[in-house]
Amino acid sequence: MEQRKGRRLILFPVPFQGHINPMLELANILHLKGFSITIIHTNFNSLNPSSHPHFTFHSIPDGLSESEASSKDILFLISVLTAKCVEPFRECLASLLSDVSEDPVACLISDAIFHFAQSVADSLKVPRVVLRTGGASSFTVFAAFPLLREKGYFPIPDSRLEEPVAEFPHLKVKDLPVIKGCDSEEYFQLADGMSNGTKSSRGLIFNTFEDLEEQALGKIRQEFPIPIFPIGPFHNCFPAASSSLPLATEDKSCISWLNGQAPKSVVYVSYGSIVAIKEAQFLEIAWGLANSKQPFLWVIRPDSIHGGSQWLELLPNEFLENLNGRGHIVKWSPQKEVLSHAAIGVFWTHSGWNSTLESICEGVPMICMPCFTDQMVNARYVSNVWKVGLQLEPGAERGEIERTIRKLMVEKEGEEIRARSLKLMEKANLCFKQDGSSYQSLDGLVKHILSLES
Ligand code: UDX
Repeated sequence: MEQRKGRRLILFPVPFQGHINPMLELANILHLKGFSITIIHTNFNSLNPSSHPHFTFHSIPDGLSESEASSKDILFLISVLTAKCVEPFRECLASLLSDVSEDPVACLISDAIFHFAQSVADSLKVPRVVLRTGGASSFTVFAAFPLLREKGYFPIPDSRLEEPVAEFPHLKVKDLPVIKGCDSEEYFQLADGMSNGTKSSRGLIFNTFEDLEEQALGKIRQEFPIPIFPIGPFHNCFPAASSSLPLATEDKSCISWLNGQAPKSVVYVSYGSIVAIKEAQFLEIAWGLANSKQPFLWVIRPDSIHGGSQWLELLPNEFLENLNGRGHIVKWSPQKEVLSHAAIGVFWTHSGWNSTLESICEGVPMICMPCFTDQMVNARYVSNVWKVGLQLEPGAERGEIERTIRKLMVEKEGEEIRARSLKLMEKANLCFKQDGSSYQSLDGLVKHILSLES
């Protein structure tokens, strides 16, 4: 722990697992650097202060009705939160800023998606630094939406899906980060708000590292007139952060099950905290896994299958009876612990940014099956740029799934991908060594925060 700096940071996360986890990891990193930490969070998906006794928590009313809070439509939820949180957030922030009994506030750090925080911070004359929880490569595409719209990419017609995107040579049109079939004005406004709010901020923090996304970071440095701090992977710097979101309890039974499996033999399957799949796809995944003959650990969240199924009742008895201990199913796993287990051979993921980074840090090759937004960009980078995984098309059938698993785990092509994954892991581990890029960038961030004047 560094000497206390006598300065306080106020952090404001977007209340979803994939956003809360990195914000809390960042909070822990900056606390280790000597800052006091205050977290403003919504009642919706509210945080548990007892899991983080070294931080101060303030909950704000978000105004969501019961039916709004139970919606599975993420864009809708973000839009409602963005509209209803402004005033409660302003009141809470104003009262924290006027509290002279605490350390003076150095800045607000808030998620890029909550762009309304910029005008609130401006009106209260407190500097705002942005955390973008997704990758830098996908961020460059969100920032280019106005240009891409002008060039007629949206709505995306089926006939253009396979075409390359001239402005982003690594991407095909089908990789553009939209929510499937959705090209609503609301979505584009959110992306524009994120980009413009960030441009008006005092700095941008990324959970990434130079070696991974050098090109995208270079582009952002050219286009955004603010300092950029790639200081990830956060969890490599501060591994013990737990989100304490009541999504589900981590089922530790999977670790003892993994202990009984051969090294690098298990396919770990998890599609993060939001993605839901169709019943037909669910069954193809089940049979693809069974037919691959590889052991598998499968996270099935109870709400993750469209059509109202409770949990496993869609799986045929024949599937469950023939598992013979070769498959283990849980509702929620301790994912970082799972990925670091010697038995894991492959991670079949939806390519959320946190999952992607966690896999890279453990040198685990990926099978990517992205569903929406940044996941498509992340998946393309994993398979075609960093070449540490393979992609499965949405709606892939059991035969294709079985072939992809076997290609990655037992065939020659897989051997090369596995070797590249280990090389990339080494780079991810080096960036936090003294004088590594994230180590230096973190030092720069601390100096920058201390230099900010209201
Ligand atoms: C969302 C978006 O879907 C994603 O595209 C965006 O990049 C971040 O926000 P999510 O879908 O939840 O996130 O995916 P991801 O970013 O991978 O985050 C999931 C987090 O939950 C990871 O930190 C992972 O370790 C954790 N997790 C997941 C568990 O701890 N246990 C599980 O069983 C599954």
